[in-house]
Amino acid sequence: MAKLPILEFPDERLRTKAVAVETVDDEVRQLVDDMLETMYDAQGIGLAATQVDVHRRVIVMDVSDDRSTPLVLVNPTYTPIGDEREPMQEGCLSIPEYYAEVPRALKVRLQALGRDGRPYELEAEGLLAHCIQHECDHLEGVLFVDYLSPLKRDRVMKKMQKRHKMGQPA
Ligand code: NI
Repeated sequence: MAKLPILEFPDERLRTKAVAVETVDDEVRQLVDDMLETMYDAQGIGLAATQVDVHRRVIVMDVSDDRSTPLVLVNPTYTPIGDEREPMQEGCLSIPEYYAEVPRALKVRLQALGRDGRPYELEAEGLLAHCIQHECDHLEGVLFVDYLSPLKRDRVMKKMQKRHKMGQPA
């Protein structure tokens, strides 16, 4: 396994739309394992391949308290269940040290392939539902700051540019 460098906002590569995985082969499994190591090391709850500059539809997550329940999503799609939306505070490994409330569907039904290439479905609610929507956005080149007002987004942009100028890891 290997830790991968994470792209940081406003890096334009985060805007790339990811392509579907054709076969879950050893290369994809290696990517999944490297992404899990990277996510756990960075203490994140989700990571999309886009964030490590691999533009394929692969996501890893773990929203469990004891970090013991990795979830692998290859070619994920989801549909909201019902019309209920709720705001929840979000952060992103590509936008360190910034958090903001984003309203999203409270419940979703997810369809994806697992690390073994088999299709599965699950219903998610609350934190997991938010995480699925946030990570799937990454595969479309969308970031949670896109949902904020232009003024707030501009403030985040300046904060990140300052951070990068100070020579912190990009
Ligand atoms: Ni993110």
